[in-house]
Amino acid sequence: MRFLSYVPFVRAVRWKPCARGAATAARLLVVVVVAMLVWHGMLSVIYVPKLVSDARNVSGYFHIPVRMLRGDGLHFILDHPQTCGGGRRLHVVALIVSAPRNHANRDTIRATWGAALRRRHGDDDPSAFLFVLGDPRNASLQAALADEDRRHGDLIQADFIDSYFNMTLKHLVALRWAVRRCRGDVSFVLKTDDDVVVNTHRLLPYLSSLPATDEALLCYVNKNPRVFRDETKWRISRALYAAATYPDYCAGPAYVVTPRVAARLFDATLAIRPMFVDDVLVSGIARLHAGVRLMRAPYQLRPADFTMWEPDPLATFARAAEDGGALPMFGALQGYAGDNKTDVMRAIWDVIEATQRRRRG
Ligand SMILES: *[C@@H]1O[C@H](CO)[C@@H](O)[C@H](O)[C@H]1NC(C)=O
Ligand SMILES: *[C@@H]1O[C@H](CO)[C@@H](O)[C@H](O)[C@H]1NC(C)=O
Ligand SMILES: *[C@@H]1O[C@H](CO)[C@@H](O)[C@H](O)[C@H]1NC(C)=O
Ligand SMILES: *[C@@H]1O[C@H](CO)[C@@H](O)[C@H](O)[C@H]1NC(C)=O
Repeated sequence: MRFLSYVPFVRAVRWKPCARGAATAARLLVVVVVAMLVWHGMLSVIYVPKLVSDARNVSGYFHIPVRMLRGDGLHFILDHPQTCGGGRRLHVVALIVSAPRNHANRDTIRATWGAALRRRHGDDDPSAFLFVLGDPRNASLQAALADEDRRHGDLIQADFIDSYFNMTLKHLVALRWAVRRCRGDVSFVLKTDDDVVVNTHRLLPYLSSLPATDEALLCYVNKNPRVFRDETKWRISRALYAAATYPDYCAGPAYVVTPRVAARLFDATLAIRPMFVDDVLVSGIARLHAGVRLMRAPYQLRPADFTMWEPDPLATFARAAEDGGALPMFGALQGYAGDNKTDVMRAIWDVIEATQRRRRG
């Protein structure tokens, strides 16, 4: 127990020689309390949790070659470098992480909130959206993607294998693209997925109402999130990540950042060991390393601004429309199990548009 005398706040107490037993008990108590706080992630402000293992076959560990994101070591198969910059300043650039096969989702977004995002601020204060993909390593699918991009001009495709366990790479490609191509030319970066309906009628006024800052990170905050150790898709072993909870992080479906925060999250993520649970990694662990704070109430988004893990997100929008309350800002469909996701996305957008028309006129 000698090492305890090196813990400064324990040594600072002047122990009476006659109370040796009590002193040892007190030191033990301090150690136990600190260990419990660390275990529960409560000291995460000063103790930054780490991903500990690089051993193969530890559950949750996949080799993610983030090295390719440094310097110029990333090749783009499809790109639109002129979407940002080119003399005009964008209000919002939406980077929508998409799977190569999900062309129906992309068409749905183009026809619904994507079109509204482009239209909303007009030529003076334009916004844009782009889909971010990897390489499907499938010639016929690649030919279809090239054709889709010729027609719409909105695909960013980087040269890495597009697979679920490479989600972190795709997320970082989106951030890197925003940081390299848009810095200084855009006010906000929206990172979202191809099964999310963004209620632009709420998002754009909300962003305009924020106090001027270049430090915003806006999202559905997952507080004191438990680490899944059991047989889920997101299983992470103790060998890889020891604490029982993750730092607070932004839940997957959508977050909004300023370009400055995007750059800090990107740089911090490249500096630590990557893992495949991309939202935890980027907006939780790397965020702590970067010293980026989640925006506080009343400016932070609230859970009610999202449909999350709901089996029937359309019903949530319909109910809010009927009750006269605010509609959610993001309709995330990751909890919807039916095989007609794009129908539900369109139906949610119809509710948003109809409600907007009715309440305005
Ligand atoms: C690690 O996993 C691979 C593929 O599942 C397997 O072939 C290999 O034997 C495993 N290695 C160890 C040390 O368990
Ligand atoms: C390639 O993609 C096409 C079209 O989606 C699909 O029909 C085919 O099975 C895929 N081929 C392989 C080898 O996965
Ligand atoms: C991720 O992409 C890299 C680069 O293409 C590849 O080497 C790696 O095998 C991929 N990993 C997975 C899990 O697909
Ligand atoms: C598909 O989506 C629509 C929303 O437009 C929903 O009303 C309908 O019940 C769904 N159909 C099936 C077969 O899941």
